[in-house]
Amino acid sequence: MNLASPKPHSLPVPEPVALEHSRRLAEHIAAAVADSGGWLPFDRYMELALYAPKLGYYAAGAAKFGRLAADGSDFVTAPELSPLFARTLARQLGDVFELAQSAQVLEFGAGSGRLAADLLLALEAHGTPCEQYCIMELSGELRARQRETIATAAPHLVGRVTWLDTLPDAFAGAMIGNEVLDAMPVRLFARRQGVWCERGVTIADGRFAWEERALHGPLPEALAPLDALPAGQDYVTETHEAASAFVRSVAPLLARGVLLLVDYGFPAGEYYHAQRGQGTLMCHYRHQAHDDPFYYPGLQDITAHVEFTGIAAAGVDAGLELLGFTSQARFLLNSGVTSLLGELDPSDLATFLPATAAAQKLLSEAEMGELFKVIAFGRGIPAEAMLTGFAAGDRSHTL
Ligand SMILES: C[S@@+](CC[C@H](N)C(=O)[O-])C[C@H]1O[C@@H](n2cnc3c(N)ncnc32)[C@H](O)[C@@H]1O
Repeated sequence: MNLASPKPHSLPVPEPVALEHSRRLAEHIAAAVADSGGWLPFDRYMELALYAPKLGYYAAGAAKFGRLAADGSDFVTAPELSPLFARTLARQLGDVFELAQSAQVLEFGAGSGRLAADLLLALEAHGTPCEQYCIMELSGELRARQRETIATAAPHLVGRVTWLDTLPDAFAGAMIGNEVLDAMPVRLFARRQGVWCERGVTIADGRFAWEERALHGPLPEALAPLDALPAGQDYVTETHEAASAFVRSVAPLLARGVLLLVDYGFPAGEYYHAQRGQGTLMCHYRHQAHDDPFYYPGLQDITAHVEFTGIAAAGVDAGLELLGFTSQARFLLNSGVTSLLGELDPSDLATFLPATAAAQKLLSEAEMGELFKVIAFGRGIPAEAMLTGFAAGDRSHTL
C-alpha cells in the first residue's frame, strides 16, 4: 500500500532505498492512526514524521542540510550558508560569557554541527574561548554527524564538546538554538463557516488524508482574536504548544546568562492576521518548498513559522527576563557583521565573493534578513547590561 501523497510533477523522484524507508515510516504512522481510532492530531503526525526513532526525517540518515539539491540536501540554514553567521554570533556570545561569568555554551538542535564547529573556532579567534560546549540533540544520527563535523573542522577543540542525554539541573553561560523551534510539532486548526475544528490525519482510499474534527477542548487562547473575522471567511492556522513547552522546560535551568533563539516567524499580531488565512505549514524536499506533509514522510522536512509572542510569554512566565527581539539583519548588523566583512581582503576573490554573497542572503529583507528573528532572554545578568545585538531596532514592543 502506498500511503504517501502521489508525487507532484515538479519534485524529483527519491531513490528506491529512500522510498522503501519512507514506506516503513508511513506504515508506522498508519499503525498510530489506527491505534488512535482512525484519526491523529496533526502534531502527532508531524512528531512521528520527523522524530520516530530510526525512521523520522531528523532521526534517520537523510542529508537534510546543505546548499544544493545535488548534495541530496533539502534546505540551507544560516550556519550552513557561511561561517560569517557563527563569527558574528561569537562576538555576542563573548559578551554573554563576561556578563554570565561563565564561558559555556549549550546548543539545542545542532544539526550537522556546523554552527558548533564555527563558533568554537570563532570564539577562540575572538579571544573569548569557550570552555565547555554542550549539545542537546534528539537525533542519534545527527549527534554522530556533529561529532564528525567538529572533529574535522576544529580537532583541537572537539574535547570541549559534550553531548547531553538529559538537561542539566543548572547552566550558566549562553544557551542557543538556530532553527530549532520551527522544527517542533504544531497543532493545526481550521475555521469553517465560523466554526473551529482541529485538523488531523486519517487514511482514506489507502492514503493519508486530512480530516477536520470538532474541537474537544477549548480553542487555544492565541486564536481568540480570529473570532472577530467574518463567519464566511475560512481560515487555517497552527498553534505552537511544543515550542512553548520547550522554552518553559529549558528556562528554569538557566541559572545565569542568556537564552538566544533564532528562527523565522512573526509576533502574534502579524501571525494570526486576517490575511494569513492558509497558515505557514511548509515542507522542504531537495530545496523545493511545498505544502503537502503527506509527500513521502521521512524524506522531507516539515516546518511552521514561529509565533514569537507565545515564545516570549513562555520565557517570561518561566521567570526569565526578555532582553530583546529583532530581525536577523538588525541583530547581525548590531553585532558587527560589517566590520567582519571589512576585515576580508577584497583581492582574495575565493574568500571575499562567497562571504559577500552570504552576507547579502543573511541580511537582505528579501532573503533571511527580515523573516528571521532573534529573541533573547536572560537571568542574573546586570540590569544595565544590554546585548549589543539589540542595541538598535529592538522590537520587543511588538510582541
Ligand atoms: C531545522 S534543524 C536546524 C539545525 C541547525 N540548528 C542549523 O541551524 O543548521 C532542527 C534541529 O532541531 C533539532 N530538535 C528538534 N527538537 C528539538 C528539541 N526539543 N531539543 C533539541 N533538539 C531538537 C532537530 O533534531 C534538528 O537538529
